[in-house]
Amino acid sequence: MSKTIIVSNRLPIKIIEEGDGYALQPSEGGLATGLASIHAQGKNNWIGWPGVFLNDPKQTTYFTSALRERRLIPIFLDDEEIKGFYEGFSNEVLWPIFHYMPNYAVYDLHNWETYVKVNERFRDLILAQAEPDDTIWIHDYQLLLLPGLIRSALPDASIGFFQHIPFPSQELFRLIPWRKELLEGMLGADLLGFHTFDDVRHFISSATRLTATNNNSNKLEVDGRTVFVEPFPMGIDSNRFAALSSDEHVLKRVAELKLNFGEQKIILSIDRLDYSKGILQRLEAFALFLLENPAFHKQVTLYMVVVPSRDTVPQYRELKDQIDRLVGNINAQYGSYDWYPVAYFYHGYPVAEIAALYNMADVCLVTPMRDGMNLVSKEYIASRNDETGVLILSEMAGAANELIDALIVNPNNVHDIRDALLFALNMPIPEMKRRMKSMRAIVFKFNVQHWATLFMNRLEEIKTVQSTTKAR
Ligand code: G6P
Repeated sequence: MSKTIIVSNRLPIKIIEEGDGYALQPSEGGLATGLASIHAQGKNNWIGWPGVFLNDPKQTTYFTSALRERRLIPIFLDDEEIKGFYEGFSNEVLWPIFHYMPNYAVYDLHNWETYVKVNERFRDLILAQAEPDDTIWIHDYQLLLLPGLIRSALPDASIGFFQHIPFPSQELFRLIPWRKELLEGMLGADLLGFHTFDDVRHFISSATRLTATNNNSNKLEVDGRTVFVEPFPMGIDSNRFAALSSDEHVLKRVAELKLNFGEQKIILSIDRLDYSKGILQRLEAFALFLLENPAFHKQVTLYMVVVPSRDTVPQYRELKDQIDRLVGNINAQYGSYDWYPVAYFYHGYPVAEIAALYNMADVCLVTPMRDGMNLVSKEYIASRNDETGVLILSEMAGAANELIDALIVNPNNVHDIRDALLFALNMPIPEMKRRMKSMRAIVFKFNVQHWATLFMNRLEEIKTVQSTTKAR
């Protein structure tokens, strides 16, 4: 029986430090939950990094077999690989360029070489697992070379690739010194998936300009093979959020939180620490809102959760300092002994707490400068079982193509965000419900299971057509 090998930088279970030792913990996040149903089938397995480097070979053996029992195959990166591949090339070149922030990019030949080396290590692990009829589904920007590396070793393999972050305009992409190698790596896939039509369009324009690829609409001819490039907007596990939102423990927690804030309206902001998320601009817009709307003082709190992320990368550490300062300034300027305008938390939370926050919030403020999809916006919608609540959403998030009943804002325009806040806080309940209802229909229909099935079915269809054409 053939199997599917899922490959992503992170495994859906991570090894965390606990007391004097280590323990396994499920990774939260879209990818882990989204692919869980595929991973659960048959003998499918998943290759990725469990998030730590274990110094002790005994620990490494122990955790390797504990993970393998769950059909998870770990790749342990050493410190140098973490620095060069993960922090350096993935998060200091690809992440900023793909999010339209070229000024943050740091080009370093050694980091590039480590990126190549780690992609080759992933290839070797896959080759040790793969059988001729298997399907290999590779995820995200950390592994752009992998489709090409596998294709060279297994010319007939069925290879899908999905990118979870935006693909930039060719004018940005061409800045990368190793742009051609990256494209050639991606073009090793049979099917390349992106969240939006714009990402597809950008990829095709880079591929046709920078490599000798022929373009026939969204089909690219590469070395006698056809590569399909298509949009698959990712969804979330909507039923999970709906169920959590009617769970009695979650509801108790919502009541507790609400009691704490009395009659105040709550604006919620939740992101990983990242400069692509527009956290500083969001704070500036909130400060402007407070300046111009004294009637809302003590009547509203911005509940801001920033989840620690990549804090070994200098730009992220710097951003953390800037956020700390700005929150401090706003609270010092507008706050009083009985009211802090910004309730700020720098923590990760279990999903039940996040569901409680989604339910407590009158408004969810999601204003990334650029985002492949943005799953927080969809989780908020799925959590609002009573159809109240207002979503303010950046037009730069992939989700804005689907959630058209949100209040759509330009994240660079603090005046626009200020107006949206005022509008949201005054929105009559029937309007809220009308908007929420139509967004819920989308989020529940196009959920993550739908996304994964659609991608896998399409890949299978492409391979079937290829093999019948070959057989003729
Ligand atoms: C984004 C990326 C993922 C990544 C996640 C968390 O969603 O698309 O590939 O895993 O951020 O970032 P981290 O660097 O902690 O893996």
